[in-house]
Amino acid sequence: MHQDLPERLLQRAAAPAVNPRIPGIRSLHSPGPTRVPDAVMHAMQRPMMDLMDPRVGALIRACEDGMRALLAAPPDAHVLFYAANGHGMWEAVTANLSARGRTLLMAGGGHFSDSWAMQTEVLGPATGTTVQRTPHAEGHPTDVAAIEQALRDDTAHRIAAVLVVHTDTSSGITSELAAVRRAIDAAGHPALFVVDLVASLAAEPFAMDSLGVDVAMGASQKGLMCPPGLGWVAVNARALAFAEQHAGARFYWDWVRRVSDLQYRKFCGTPPLAHLAGLEAALRLIDEEGLANVQARHARLAGAVHAALARWAEAGAVRPFCKVAAARSSSVTAIEVRAGIDPEALRTVARERFQVAIAGGLGPLAGRVFRIGHLGDMNEATILGALAGVEAAMVVQGIPFGDGGVAAAARHLVEATGGRSAPAQEG
Ligand SMILES: Cc1ncc(COP(=O)(O)O)c(C=O)c1O
Repeated sequence: MHQDLPERLLQRAAAPAVNPRIPGIRSLHSPGPTRVPDAVMHAMQRPMMDLMDPRVGALIRACEDGMRALLAAPPDAHVLFYAANGHGMWEAVTANLSARGRTLLMAGGGHFSDSWAMQTEVLGPATGTTVQRTPHAEGHPTDVAAIEQALRDDTAHRIAAVLVVHTDTSSGITSELAAVRRAIDAAGHPALFVVDLVASLAAEPFAMDSLGVDVAMGASQKGLMCPPGLGWVAVNARALAFAEQHAGARFYWDWVRRVSDLQYRKFCGTPPLAHLAGLEAALRLIDEEGLANVQARHARLAGAVHAALARWAEAGAVRPFCKVAAARSSSVTAIEVRAGIDPEALRTVARERFQVAIAGGLGPLAGRVFRIGHLGDMNEATILGALAGVEAAMVVQGIPFGDGGVAAAARHLVEATGGRSAPAQEG
């Protein structure tokens, strides 16, 4: 009987025991890639155009203008797009700010600043640039005093730039950019101010102009609600001048080459049209909702997760990883588990039995935390569903947690969306 089956069916029978069909919506709560709204998916299906079609220019301009508005970029800033992920954009920044004998000051902030530093150090022998890292205490935001001290100590002004990750996605901790700006000013140091907004853009307030940020960078797959693959950087005149004065061995990443009216130069080749069409649609969605409303929604949903976590933590098995309540990010919450609890097993149960995809621990936090993303195209119902799914998975895994987490989240959302209606009148 078996021998009569076509080969295709035999292969299926041998496949792992997961059902390929997911009814309803799988709730995606990884902090990137995030859910892509239908309007973005549809826009990306737009037919390709020949590069001389005037619609291509209009599409690029819409993306540049939209990003400029989202970033509150100063008039002298250029927005450049790359077919790249966040790692690519790190290199786009460091390739342009590297110069023989100079230093890049990496503000310690967790796994992502460590990874950015490591990537830049690997390139160091070729660029002649060294990386200096400021110390960082686990569970805390970036140590701004350490940045100021490093700048004060650098009397020869070798430090070309201070590099800060706004939200460290591995720990769910957001650092205060205004405090970093004040530290650079207090030290009287001319270093450029560079910010990684990969995990914070559209979730946390940000204004490139008033913060005096010289370079901001990010990628498409988080608050921008697009698939991964499109990176962006905004570079002001001061940062561009640095790159002009320090020509290095760079081509694809080179800002100077890309600052051009010629489309082919802007992208160092063929523009990633589908991604740009998706970004244009995503920027329109953000504009329609209103950026302030988008940020308020992120803060509200994050508050719901924090409210649930406060209840769960009462049983002593899970707790917030971030030790500074004001630094808990609006994008993602990292939840530390007691020794002996396997967050990866919890993740698998949450995803495969309850359709809630959450994230695990990265780098030194692997096996120590799980993370609930609340970033991008999300609302009250999705966040309550995710919290209920995580509770169910904790029950399956025998992880003790305090009662009433989902109810506390719902109460937070009631208050944050206008409170209760007047009680119904009898009769
Ligand atoms: C803050 C931050 N920076 C950089 C990156 C790297 O981005 P990618 O994974 O797209 O290379 C990430 C990825 O999650 C991130 O969260």
